[in-house]
Amino acid sequence: MADPTIEAWTRANAAYTDERAEQSWAAEEVRWGIWELPESELAALPDVTGKDVIELGCGTAYFGAWLKKAGAARVVGVDPTPAQLETARRCNEKFGLGLEFVEAFAEDVPLPDTSFDLAVSEYGASIWADPYKWIPEAARLLRPGGELVFLRNSTLFILCSPDEDVPAIETLQRPQFGIHSFQWPDSGVEYHLSHGDWIRLLRANGFEVLDLIEIQAPADAETHQFYDYVTAEWARKWPAEEIWRARLRPRSS
Ligand SMILES: C[S@@+](CC[C@H](N)C(=O)[O-])C[C@H]1O[C@@H](n2cnc3c(N)ncnc32)[C@H](O)[C@@H]1O
Repeated sequence: MADPTIEAWTRANAAYTDERAEQSWAAEEVRWGIWELPESELAALPDVTGKDVIELGCGTAYFGAWLKKAGAARVVGVDPTPAQLETARRCNEKFGLGLEFVEAFAEDVPLPDTSFDLAVSEYGASIWADPYKWIPEAARLLRPGGELVFLRNSTLFILCSPDEDVPAIETLQRPQFGIHSFQWPDSGVEYHLSHGDWIRLLRANGFEVLDLIEIQAPADAETHQFYDYVTAEWARKWPAEEIWRARLRPRSS
């Protein structure tokens, strides 16, 4: 039987045209989240010049493309959905950036240990893979001193969301204690942890937390036409999205 995650992302791929994917690949600067805040403002990433980068849950891989343009030596995109990877490959061909792609779930990546300097995820593994499995994989794939940077919905946003078709509101909708896997009525399984659980999980896998950037919608931002599950007004008051940055401690022999 087909995997429901892959089926869901094959449908999402059909809705997200090559034209939109190409527009994203064409951007010159790394931009973050719903309000496309520039990396020059958020400083979420280390210098990627000459680095080997893996993107976990790359989708159409525009984020990896931005990192290659920013000077990364090698970018490997990992994703389980063939349709997403086909779009990524077409864009890669068109833009001639030389990304590599691997069809796999982020919980089990068929690549050798200690192969990368930076692991990233932009709404890929960061919300769609089980953190108790993909964080250990990221640690295995990184070289000592390597960094992990990922963007996800904030836990507070999830706690305040009545359901996936309605914007977040100003009252808590569900308990935080015990939060882990999470299924909206019409979508695949997402994964969300409390901040305490994120910190413990990262530390248990050899990471030190360097930063947690809570994204605020700019003063002049309007609610996004497509990503309308949060209003700009809500996101000016509370973080709807967050970027985690962590570094793998050197392994003791
Ligand atoms: C929102 S998209 C990725 C974001 C990417 N930056 C983009 O917009 O194209 C989410 C991706 O996560 C992938 N995905 C779902 N479950 C996954 C898992 N367990 N491991 C890695 N990727 C997964 C899906 O196939 C999909 O391509």
